[in-house]
Amino acid sequence: MPDLVAELESLARAARDAIAAAGDEPGLEALRVRYLGKKGELSAALRGMGQLAAEERPRVGEAANRVRDEVEALLARARERLEADRLERELRGPPLDVTLPGRGLVARGHRHPVTRTSEEIAQIFARLGYRVASGPEIELDWYNFEALNFPPDHPARDMQDTFFVDEATLGGPAPGALLRTHTSPIQIRAMKEAGRPPVRVVAPGRVYRSDFDQTHSPMFHQVEGFCVDRGITFADLKGTLAAFARAFFGPGTRTRFRPSYFPFVEPGAEVDVSCTICGGTGRKDSSRCGACKGTGWLEVLGAGMVHPVVLENVGFDPRAATGFAFGMGVERLTMLKYGIDDLRVFFDNDLRFLQQF
Ligand code: FA5
Repeated sequence: MPDLVAELESLARAARDAIAAAGDEPGLEALRVRYLGKKGELSAALRGMGQLAAEERPRVGEAANRVRDEVEALLARARERLEADRLERELRGPPLDVTLPGRGLVARGHRHPVTRTSEEIAQIFARLGYRVASGPEIELDWYNFEALNFPPDHPARDMQDTFFVDEATLGGPAPGALLRTHTSPIQIRAMKEAGRPPVRVVAPGRVYRSDFDQTHSPMFHQVEGFCVDRGITFADLKGTLAAFARAFFGPGTRTRFRPSYFPFVEPGAEVDVSCTICGGTGRKDSSRCGACKGTGWLEVLGAGMVHPVVLENVGFDPRAATGFAFGMGVERLTMLKYGIDDLRVFFDNDLRFLQQF
């Protein structure tokens, strides 16, 4: 008959020594498993209980409980001691500089696809000699409409298209303040700032219109570009935009110019790019392509020769200088480039969409 009580006591002695000698937390955990785990030494010793006489069992059971309680208490105390040691070592060690940048352990964020496209467009024009400029998003009627030759009754000024800013919002008188509806007011600001030609500017930015469907959003992005100098012609405009389309979409890109009207250009055009969602066929998955509304083309920008009245409004002599201007929709260009068929996903902030870029 094994003397289980003696066995348990010798187990307790061994555990006391081992726990006192444990130098780190993983080592301590290994001791817990060794003595108290399901397949540990205490369980193994108690397996012999079955062979004991009934009157022996309470004594052995009591000894087993005592040993288990003691080993548990020793382990808890040792854990506290090791934690305190570790904290002490950390406090004595080199100070932790919480202002240092991360070391790449956490996945870094990246630029929004709309930001990427704006930057890419600006870079293409920077290579063509354009300077990057910006302007305010809360703009005055004069810059957004009047100086750009919009008549007072032009429909774009309608409450349905333009968000006007009232005194209560601005906290003071705001005659003619509005959220700019396009980036074209930057033409006026940049030409006034330059004072005289030549001016070659590219200007990305946010614009606002009361508009919302699969291809229109109330806040969207445009990039304005314009070039004013002596002897600039419509051929320069076509060559510049064709070069841009090839640089942005690739050498095989098809573009088309359609005559169009904007009050600040004469003549004016709208420029379309072949729809990359449906390959220019107008049909997708045996139904009408939603992105191009079945036409095979997507309108990406408006353009034209700067109207003489606009040049006069900024103090330039229209007999000495001519120029062209264009304004493009950044979301549209991004949709074409990456094959996205709904503009609203840009602003949903769904990580499953954003992480693909
Ligand atoms: C303009 O805004 C003119 N300022 C462009 C221009 C500049 C013409 C210089 C001539 C000379 P338009 O309203 O067509 O034009 O808008 C330009 C582009 O912005 C459109 O081709 C389209 O791609 C994009 N766009 C217009 N409205 C929205 C909208 N609600 N959501 C997303 N993109 C839009």
